Amino acid sequence: MRLSPSLSIDRAQLLADLDRLSLIGRAPDGGMTRRALSREDAEARSYVMERMRAAGLDVRHDEVGNVRARRRGRCKAPDGPCVMTGSHLDSVPSGGKLDGPLGVVGALAAIEALDRAGVHTDKPIEIAIFVGEEGSRFPRGTIGSAAMSGHVAVEAILALQDPDGIVYRDALATYGDRGVPLPGCAEKGSIDSFVELHVEQGGVLEASGVPIGVVTAIAGLVQRRVAFLGDANHAGATPMNLRHDALLAAADWCLSVERAAQVVGGGAVGTVGKLEVSPGGKNIIPGRVDAICDLRAPQPLLLSAIDELVLAALRASAAPRGVEFEQVLLQRVEPGPMDERPMRAVEAAAAACGLLAQRMPSGAIHDALHLAEACPSTMIFVPSIGGKSHCPTEATDPQHLMQGCEVLAHTLAILAG
Ligand code: GLV
Ligand code: MN
Ligand code: MN
Repeated sequence: MRLSPSLSIDRAQLLADLDRLSLIGRAPDGGMTRRALSREDAEARSYVMERMRAAGLDVRHDEVGNVRARRRGRCKAPDGPCVMTGSHLDSVPSGGKLDGPLGVVGALAAIEALDRAGVHTDKPIEIAIFVGEEGSRFPRGTIGSAAMSGHVAVEAILALQDPDGIVYRDALATYGDRGVPLPGCAEKGSIDSFVELHVEQGGVLEASGVPIGVVTAIAGLVQRRVAFLGDANHAGATPMNLRHDALLAAADWCLSVERAAQVVGGGAVGTVGKLEVSPGGKNIIPGRVDAICDLRAPQPLLLSAIDELVLAALRASAAPRGVEFEQVLLQRVEPGPMDERPMRAVEAAAAACGLLAQRMPSGAIHDALHLAEACPSTMIFVPSIGGKSHCPTEATDPQHLMQGCEVLAHTLAILAG
């Protein structure tokens, strides 16, 4: 296909779509919370599905709740292997408006630009809305892409349970899907290539003044749930040397997570972002703490190294205080390289748009990591203002949003031939 210089993004529509989605699940602090398969997630999804239908896409869903919307018109082989793009609409608690939605409505903006320019392709282009990327409800994230790539069996996903004991299969029944679903695991060879548009969520592009990042690899992740089991007791009557304070053990361990990342180095990072203290009374020694740690590294060996240090630190933090602990692995995802073919397509697309692009790894997890197991994949990053994400102040200059969509449109045209 020839690159058309007239591929222009409808800026007003793109910004209106992002604004509309940002109202769904919005809290007074300006952040939005859309947990996987929740009412808010369903509302956001049905808004986008309506927009997709209006854009003439063939909108289907699969067995785990992913949406797959195909551009069948202006295409030589509408039933053949597709060039896929897309991202997610679920969010972290009180997250920003761009993490996920940009890659979904940005994809729609790109396809509408191709339509306006009358671009014909050999392969069909498909937008996926992946379900449950953030892992803020069920025990794991990247649910939809893990199913689509075959990384996790559909049955195992349907059996997941949220903290209230609600089973994924039952939550899915209230998601609003009608009709026969597509298989949750995509048929081998049915996806030609994948490219996901996303905000960078860090400060590299902003610092270098380059508007487009081409993602070369995605860091791996280990998440573990840990319970520290001490003794709840009276905060006034119990001498300091007779306590089994679960929170002090947990606090010591949190510091060990930081130290483990420093010792391992090489881009390894560790976070304890969730801590629940029970019974949670101001005059009660904490009897139990439930925590989740999130460890990341760009190479499998580094990921194992930080994980081992953090596990060893559990005993070292708990035992001296007479506190017991339990831990369970929630998720381990290996780091994954992206593929040269789509990376070169993004670079050619950026050049066609007259934009600088730089190659860079992603520290955040994305659905592209699993899609890379099924087909050649990459991502397009646009700069994040102040490098902020997973918080209400996440933002990107509208000009950069537009440029990301424009580069995506050209990339899809190149990959779809
Ligand atoms: C998802 O955004 C993650 O990196 O946790
Ligand atoms: Mn995220
Ligand atoms: Mn995301």
